[in-house]
Amino acid sequence: MSSETSPSVNAGLIHRPRRLRRTDALRRMVRETQLTANDLIYPLFVMEGENQKQEISSMPGCYRYTLDLLLKEIADAYALGIPAIALFPLVENEKKDNAGTESYNPDGLVQRTIRAIKKQTPEIVIITDVALDPFSTQGHDGIVGENGEILNDETVEVLVKQAVSQAEAGADMVAPSDMMDGRIGAIREGLDNAGFTNVSILAYSAKYASAYYGPFRDALDSAPKFGDKKTYQMDAANAREAITEADLDIAEGADIIMVKPALAYLDIIHLLRNTTNVPIAAYNVSGEYAMIKAAGQMGWIDEKKVILETLTSIKRAGADLILTYFAKEVALMLR
Ligand code: PBG
Repeated sequence: MSSETSPSVNAGLIHRPRRLRRTDALRRMVRETQLTANDLIYPLFVMEGENQKQEISSMPGCYRYTLDLLLKEIADAYALGIPAIALFPLVENEKKDNAGTESYNPDGLVQRTIRAIKKQTPEIVIITDVALDPFSTQGHDGIVGENGEILNDETVEVLVKQAVSQAEAGADMVAPSDMMDGRIGAIREGLDNAGFTNVSILAYSAKYASAYYGPFRDALDSAPKFGDKKTYQMDAANAREAITEADLDIAEGADIIMVKPALAYLDIIHLLRNTTNVPIAAYNVSGEYAMIKAAGQMGWIDEKKVILETLTSIKRAGADLILTYFAKEVALMLR
């Protein structure tokens, strides 16, 4: 008011982006990305037995559950607004072989688990993993040939049987994570021929050969017994190839495509958002979870804030859906 007050040198500044950041209500009005429980898919590990849960040492706060306790976790998740779970089995060693035949046993752990979930929480979307690694003595996603080669077409035949057996048990969506060529088309055909025209396919389209999967392999005791997965999973240095993989999967019948891992591949999510029209999922994988948990436990970061910022960034990059071990924790925070 006083005539002494000199006008700011910037009094004539037209654009002041800070105007819309002044209060919480203003910030909420112009927020471009909203993270909600609807975006979340909750990956869960199931094991044989009763009334047990084992914490995974490299994934604090994540457990392998026996079916009875898993059902409780799923009911809680659905009540929190999480629409879908992704199921991964810990398979007993004596049931493993090179061709992963246990994967299509109608009374296998996955098939029994699907039936029990459908009985208890029929509304939740059950997504099943299609790949051989948890069932393989070799820890590879496909059948190992004599010279150590991962056999593509022979593997695809098993994957089709696995997917059909999951659909027969009641799976809503099958998610091939194996990266064999041509598997989406073969699985679509197999499902349709068996009458499962309404079972959808979530394709791990751009799945990279990543060091971020370590804790997941601890959880399922599924690390490869020799070599690595670089002859089937993608090279971390490649982006254009992700478009090729996504285009192939969509042409073969994928309903949703996925990028995995998420954080080191936000550019790939963004790229595929701009080159395709199907929904995109991103997998915030075990190693990404472990890093946040570890730093949080050390008191080096504010864990809850970092989780929300991280998942928001994945959505902002272009993902419609996020598979994350934080799903339940986040759904609680968002309530
Ligand atoms: C394998 C599969 C992997 C994950 C999901 N499915 C591991 C791998 O490819 O070796 C990793 C998920 C995670 O790290 O959270 N079919």
